[in-house]
Amino acid sequence: MQITEFHNQGQLNRYAASLVAEQIRSKPDCVLGLATGSSPLGTYKELVSLYQHGNLDFSHVITFNLDEYCGINYDNEQSYHFYMKQNLFAKINISSENTHIPDASAPNLDAECLRYEQSIHNAGGIDFQLLGIGHDGHIGFNEPCDHFPIKTHCVDLAASTIHANARFFPSIDQVPTKALTMGIGTIMKARKILLIAFGIDKQEILQQALNGKVTPLVPTSVLQLHSNVTVLYGK
Ligand code: GLP
Repeated sequence: MQITEFHNQGQLNRYAASLVAEQIRSKPDCVLGLATGSSPLGTYKELVSLYQHGNLDFSHVITFNLDEYCGINYDNEQSYHFYMKQNLFAKINISSENTHIPDASAPNLDAECLRYEQSIHNAGGIDFQLLGIGHDGHIGFNEPCDHFPIKTHCVDLAASTIHANARFFPSIDQVPTKALTMGIGTIMKARKILLIAFGIDKQEILQQALNGKVTPLVPTSVLQLHSNVTVLYGK
């Protein structure tokens, strides 16, 4: 793993965006795996700025998001569909048919998970996966459990995740309790992985993930088994 500490979040964001940009320039029709949450926001801002200054072209890029909440509409500001549109897709020249997010409103969620996994495969697999880390060590919405889920699946969110996400909703009862997420296997098949973790609150779980035992109780620890991972972190 290539692990770099940053003392400034702006520098971390610029560096993360430069790695994504390098991926797009070296393969203009690359497949990007995208994350949500606060961690990648600065990276998305930098990517938008590169595009606006004429330094990056997304016209052939294909994207697959990690996850989506079940039970909220896509016009709800907290849905990941809304987040991606607002923070990236509406601000760059990506074509909407090239952007993919699990459809958690599908009538048959198991069929949707299979369809999503198959579309990633049909696109040639993920070249570059961007990740944040949850406070309990989750990636995507792969929560701590007794095994590493392989494929895209429907998950019950951990109480700590529901609690952490409550800050974004009017009340805790409105926080979704289920989500669709790529599996750990889906993520591990990505050819390159970039994990971003900024903030004092993320440091303990990050250290466990990078230096502790590989265990599904700390899902991010599985990245120790991947051959091309870059970690950018800071307090
Ligand atoms: C959510 C997302 C994850 C993300 C995590 C951390 O749970 N599903 O993909 O990594 O939040 O969020 P943040 O970056 O806001 O700490």
